[in-house]
Parts: sequence; C-alpha cells; structure tokens
Amino acid sequence: MAMLKPSLAFLVLAFAFFLCFIMSTGSYVYFQFVQQWPPTTCRLSSKPSHQHRPFQRFTIHGLWPSNYSNPRKPSNCNGSQFDDRKVYPDLRSDLKRSWPDVEGGNDTKFWEGEWNKHGKCSEQTLNQFQYFERSHDMWMSYNITEVLKNASIVPNAKQRWKYSDIVSPIKGATGRTPLLRCKRDPATNTELLHEVVFCYEYNALKQIDCNRTAGCKNQRAISFQ
Ligand SMILES: *[C@@H]1O[C@H](CO)[C@@H](O)[C@H](O)[C@H]1NC(C)=O
Ligand SMILES: *[C@@H]1O[C@H](CO)[C@@H](O)[C@H](O)[C@H]1NC(C)=O
Ligand SMILES: *[C@@H]1O[C@H](CO)[C@@H](O)[C@H](O)[C@H]1NC(C)=O
Ligand SMILES: *[C@@H]1O[C@H](CO)[C@@H](O)[C@H](O)[C@H]1NC(C)=O
Ligand SMILES: *[C@@H]1O[C@H](CO)[C@@H](O)[C@H](O)[C@H]1NC(C)=O
Ligand SMILES: *[C@@H]1O[C@H](CO)[C@@H](O)[C@H](O)[C@H]1NC(C)=O
Repeated sequence: MAMLKPSLAFLVLAFAFFLCFIMSTGSYVYFQFVQQWPPTTCRLSSKPSHQHRPFQRFTIHGLWPSNYSNPRKPSNCNGSQFDDRKVYPDLRSDLKRSWPDVEGGNDTKFWEGEWNKHGKCSEQTLNQFQYFERSHDMWMSYNITEVLKNASIVPNAKQRWKYSDIVSPIKGATGRTPLLRCKRDPATNTELLHEVVFCYEYNALKQIDCNRTAGCKNQRAISFQ
C-alpha cells in the first residue's frame, strides 16, 4: 500500500504531461498526401467541361493534416489566410506542374481553397510556403504514374484491377502502404480509381503506412481509365 500513493501521483503527473503534449501538438496526428487521377476527377466533375484538363498523370489534390478518430477533421482551422504573394515564382512554376486545378482552371483558387481548408490546421508545423514546397517535394519523390506503368497498369477502359494489384507496385516503390480512393461513375456503374493517398508522420518528413480501411467499395473490380 505504501507504494500506491507515489505511483498514483506519478500516473496523474504523467497523464497531465501527456495532455499538455497532445494540446501543444495541435489537433492533427499525421498527414494524408492525396494525389488524383485527373481523367476521373474531370469525368465526375460538376464544373463546366470546357475548363477541364484531364492530364494523364497523377497530380496533387492536397496535403491534409489528419486525425485517426475522425479522418475528415481537422479542417477550416484558425490561421493565416492564403497569401498569393508567398507563392514565389519558382514555387509557382513547380506547382503549375504538380498541383494544377484540373477541373476549374484557376490554379491559385485551388491552392487557396486547400490552404484555407487544410493547410491552416498544420500551420504550427508548416507555414504556407513550407506547406506548398513540401507537397511539391512529396509529389516529386515518387512518380506514381510511372510506378504503375512499370507494373503494366495503364489506363484501359476494358480492364479491371483488384485493389491489391494497384497497391502492390506502389508499396514496392515506397516501402509504405498507400490508400486508394475510388469514385463510382453513375453512367456506367463502374468503380473508377480516383486517388492515391500517402501518409506522413506529424512533421511531414517521414512517410508511414496508411492504416485506414480501403476507400474503394468494390475491391475486386477497379477500373483505371
Ligand atoms: C480528432 O478529431 C475529433 C473530432 O474533431 C476530436 O474530437 C479529437 O480531439 C481529435 N483528436 C486529436 C488527437 O486531436
Ligand atoms: C477561432 O478564433 C475565434 C476568435 O479567436 C474563436 O472564437 C473560435 O472559437 C476559433 N475557432 C477554432 C476552430 O479554433
Ligand atoms: C483565380 O482565383 C484567385 C483566388 O481566388 C482570384 O484572385 C483570381 O481573380 C482568379 N483568376 C481568374 C482569372 O479568375
Ligand atoms: C512521371 O512518369 C510519367 C510516365 O513515365 C512521365 O510522363 C512524367 O513526365 C513523369 N513525371 C515526372 C515529374 O517526372
Ligand atoms: C520504370 O522502369 C524503367 C525502365 O526499366 C526504370 O528506368 C525506371 O526507374 C522505373 N521507374 C520507376 C518509378 O520504378
Ligand atoms: C492506425 O495507427 C494509429 C497509430 O499507430 C493508431 O492510433 C490507430 O488506431 C490505427 N488505426 C487503425 C484503423 O488501425
């Protein structure tokens, strides 16, 4: 019994420190780096089709500070509003390649939306310049389009893939488990590959395994076109 009180006090103290730690690290736990397949984005877009740019290469959708208990949170945090002047010329020309607005045609507006909704939630880790620079670096680090091409996974309206067929070569290249997201095309009732997600730890430096359950409903019949 004599030992109980000190150890209890220790636990309480440890818990208090733990709480402080959680609060000081903000409300996200890891990052999701989301790349999209523009033809799928455009096919299901509600924006006017004359603005669509269905490039045949994966481009950035966003870098999302995330939380295991609620993957859609945090979002729309307090923080600095997007400032286009901080997208310096070199960065701008990089982002024009890696992060185009493929459905609306206004790249700046797309970047503004992603920063204001997601980027601000991790501003304590990455300021606006770092957020966009780091995202471009992530995009450059693995060329998913080429990884898939090397595994003979190329756009083809007739072929169907298993979830694991697509994940395997990506995992082989990165050493980490990605997450796939699909979208159902109501016109043809097919499950289209839409996005590939990489996960990064809190500082957005080291890639980690994504461990959420698969984001494609029909894991046996994914169409890539
Ligand atoms: C994750 O998000 C939920 C809902 O927004 C929130 O209640 C919870 O505190 C968050 N977890 C962490 C570790 O921030
Ligand atoms: C944002 O800041 C305002 C004013 O300081 C505060 O009232 C509000 O609760 C904050 N919202 C969030 C999500 O932190
Ligand atoms: C593009 O979006 C930005 C940011 O919302 C806006 O300031 C700019 O006027 C838009 N450009 C065009 C050509 O609409
Ligand atoms: C990625 O690979 C594709 C297919 O090989 C190629 O067309 C594209 O230029 C590459 N992108 C970059 C940034 O190297
Ligand atoms: C794809 O294959 C080519 C030719 O074998 C190789 O040079 C290239 O590094 C491979 N790319 C990737 C991303 O695995
Ligand atoms: C994913 O990993 C995190 C960190 O290790 C853990 O907290 C979380 O419960 C895991 N989620 C699932 C669905 O396995």
